[in-house]
Amino acid sequence: MTAPALEPRVLRDRLREARDRTLELVAPLTDADVTRQHSPLMSPIVWDLGHIAHFEEVWLLENVDGAGPGAEGLRGIYDAFRHPRVTRDRLPLPDRATCLGYLADVRRAVLRKMEGIDPRADTPLLRGGYVFNMVLQHEYQHNETIMQTLQLMDGKPYAGPGPGGKPCGVAKGDGVENQPQTDAMAHFPGGDVFVGTDDRSQAYDNERPRTRLRVEPFRIDRQPVDNAAFMSFIAAGGYRSDAHWSGAGLAWRAAERAEAPLFWFRRDGAWWTRTLGRDAPVDPALPVCHVSWYEADAFARWAGKRLPTEAEWEVAAGWDPVRRRALLHPWGDEPATPSRANLDAVHPGPAPAGSHPGNVSPLGCYGMIGDVWEWTSSRFLPYPGFEAFPYPEYSEVFFGDEYRVLRGGSWATRPGAIRNTFRNWDYPQRRQIFSGFRCASDARS
Ligand code: AVJ
Ligand code: FE
Repeated sequence: MTAPALEPRVLRDRLREARDRTLELVAPLTDADVTRQHSPLMSPIVWDLGHIAHFEEVWLLENVDGAGPGAEGLRGIYDAFRHPRVTRDRLPLPDRATCLGYLADVRRAVLRKMEGIDPRADTPLLRGGYVFNMVLQHEYQHNETIMQTLQLMDGKPYAGPGPGGKPCGVAKGDGVENQPQTDAMAHFPGGDVFVGTDDRSQAYDNERPRTRLRVEPFRIDRQPVDNAAFMSFIAAGGYRSDAHWSGAGLAWRAAERAEAPLFWFRRDGAWWTRTLGRDAPVDPALPVCHVSWYEADAFARWAGKRLPTEAEWEVAAGWDPVRRRALLHPWGDEPATPSRANLDAVHPGPAPAGSHPGNVSPLGCYGMIGDVWEWTSSRFLPYPGFEAFPYPEYSEVFFGDEYRVLRGGSWATRPGAIRNTFRNWDYPQRRQIFSGFRCASDARS
């Protein structure tokens, strides 16, 4: 179940590649851009930089060769749990040059330290290369966090790593787009399935253990909800009527004065949106992005449907009924790449359904990985038998009723940080994340 440890050379290449992306993301920014807190929802970018370095220092220098799981968490200003995002502009944060120096110093020491480490040592942290994969994924996740900050920074043209502005170069798929309306939803007849994983090389603790579940028959949209459908919801008075909103959703809508997804605005009688500093009319063919859980929930009810549970989402993303096992990704067990799914900020935004023809699950759902994170109805809770590893502050302290689970990664997610079992979570009011959804409904077998 657990993959063998990676060759030290491969690990070094991956660490370098992750760092190259971090540095590319911040290189075009001014000192004020990286120092300022652009929104209380996000850290000043210098905090992300120092925190990436500190995380690597704690796990790859201090804990990597310990015999135990290494319970010592993050310390000081980079302790994400002690210092919530909203307060991070009040911390005595070092400037960009100091953070870049810290990143480089830690990395140099890590590479030196790796020479004395047997990557096949059978300790909880090194088994399967876990601690290296965790540190890599941590940097990948903060890369997407920084992208969210860039999206919130008004007026900044996209200057990220991908060929910005280039239209999606991938061929249109055959058969997925323009599904006849009767076939717009895939059907699962119900049955016993497995969700989650026992993998200990790549997966986070919250994805374990592999869990057997009975899933009742359901239908689920073959594609994420697109802007055309969402504009119909708006035009039908979706934001003015109370009928389809939960109580908490109504309170959120009023406080936020929400009338459309975040970053949408009216120009010349039409909906426009700003993606990474570029204004364009809302493209009806693209998955809707930057909606809160409340908006997703209201749309689903308006459409006579509901949001999928995360178990339903995972079944739709990778349950193979013939082999009776879950695939790592919709297309199979082959790794995620930007050619298989719209990931990695190669294309600046979601792409039309069918752009990545092979990105279809056994159940027949398109785009479960990539394009937009998909809200589910589920709260972020442990699977039965969950064990915090290697530190409670990654998952355990967040379990509870406040968060909803998002699945599948977005166009800005790094390929090494997404798989069918990956669980993301956020507050239901959040929509600076690259979040969309698809709908589900009950079915008869
Ligand atoms: C999984 C996105 C909720 O940003 O708090 C980053 C990812 N964990 N550093 C977060 C994470 C530790 C996490 N989310
Ligand atoms: Fe972090």
